[in-house]
Amino acid sequence: MDDLINNIIALEKISSELEPSIEQRNSYNSNLQEFLNDFIENIENNKAYYIGSPDKEKLAINPEKKSFKDLLSIYTSEVIKKGINPASGGHVGYIPGGGIYTAALGDTLVSVTNEYAGMYYGSPGAVTIENELLNWMKDVFGFPKEAVGNLSSGGSIANLIALTAARDKHKIKNERVTKSVIYLSPQIHHCIHKAIRITGMEDVQVRLLELDGYSRIDSEKLKETVAKDRADGFNPFMVVASAGTTDTGAVDPLEQIGLIAQENKLWYHIDGAYGGFFVLSESKKHLFKGIGMADSLVIDPHKGLFLPYGLGAVLVKDKEAVFHSHHYTANYMQDSIANGQINPADVSPELTKHFRGLRMWLPLNLHGIEPFVACLDEKLLLTTYFRNKLSDVGFEVGPEPDLSVSYFWYPETQVNQNDFNEKLMELIHKDGTVFLSSTKIEGKYVIRMAILSFRTKIETIDKAVTMIERCLAQTKAYFKI
Ligand SMILES: Cc1ncc(COP(=O)(O)O)c(C=O)c1O
Repeated sequence: MDDLINNIIALEKISSELEPSIEQRNSYNSNLQEFLNDFIENIENNKAYYIGSPDKEKLAINPEKKSFKDLLSIYTSEVIKKGINPASGGHVGYIPGGGIYTAALGDTLVSVTNEYAGMYYGSPGAVTIENELLNWMKDVFGFPKEAVGNLSSGGSIANLIALTAARDKHKIKNERVTKSVIYLSPQIHHCIHKAIRITGMEDVQVRLLELDGYSRIDSEKLKETVAKDRADGFNPFMVVASAGTTDTGAVDPLEQIGLIAQENKLWYHIDGAYGGFFVLSESKKHLFKGIGMADSLVIDPHKGLFLPYGLGAVLVKDKEAVFHSHHYTANYMQDSIANGQINPADVSPELTKHFRGLRMWLPLNLHGIEPFVACLDEKLLLTTYFRNKLSDVGFEVGPEPDLSVSYFWYPETQVNQNDFNEKLMELIHKDGTVFLSSTKIEGKYVIRMAILSFRTKIETIDKAVTMIERCLAQTKAYFKI
């Protein structure tokens, strides 16, 4: 017995390192605070994109301990100064990240208190906060109170949950699979295709719909295609629309598609991961008419509410459809009583679930909704400003965007236009002052701008235009034009 106690005491001595003293905590906190202040104060002086790979040796786990200060320095050189700087306002490519500070305070609070947001029984407070956030989103998007939802790690998992529910509601399995049809825009985010495969619907018929000149689904063509499929003996069961496509920010005609879905008893899913929160902007509300007709909707607070990466959301009207695959009980969970609340674990593949709702709840309560809406409106105006400036310096821009994603290209005639713009993109990446990304629109190589970072300001756009002009001159020199 004495040996046992002595062994426990010896191990306790070693493991006590995991509970730093108040002095150690204060020291960590002050180092971190200094680091974060420096990061934020200098963020716009640093590049938005750094080409290069990290030193694997420095990042590998080895037995030798390092000081917190040394680790912060490694973090700067090997993580922050490699690749895209997602917290920078200069991130104007892909769909930019956010990272508002008060959300990080929420994360710290959650990590230290380690609240569990899987089952109401474990943390009724945390689960109630998450469910109240979902209730708020139901109100914003015109979903009924009885709808269920989940705060996921991002849009991809949120879309996966929605497609699982659609599959289960329409019983797309066994011999029904190959006769069943899903209608999609060719501009749909690839995570929908991923979800189709993950949910075992790879062999379903996927019809890529025709688009209009603004890259929106042509609803008349959708109607015709569904009618033809029915006449040919297929089983149309789902249509997916986008409230803001990734490539061009297009919002599909949500109401018209909703009516077609209702008439044909299709599951209507809307992916609003990028664009959904623009519904809060008075100037764009009309585009979202009909969003509440969806059976399921995805929105990403880590995009449209400027939160740090790691927070998507899904709303689904049919609780039973979601529960079919996600709700489980087990002997070891017999104590868990939900008290009339929805358990997040019943609407998601996750059981042990990070309490990610606090990073949204805290900022919404601290700041109110107004600064978020102002920020969305600001991004819309900055998109127009950027496009105007680019036109002024000789670029061609894509059609007037619905939201804050657009594209442009240099109309070069002396050399192949695609090659010219690809080289220009390469030089913009090399420069890195502002990060832009590229895409292909109907075979044409174009440079994409996506303005969604809360830190993107009018000065950022001016800086971007100066950089683009600088890189344009270098591109012309490269092609000897
Ligand atoms: C329209 C759309 N849907 C879904 C996703 C995937 O979301 P996530 O990257 O959060 O998984 C994205 C990501 O950019 C998107 O733009």
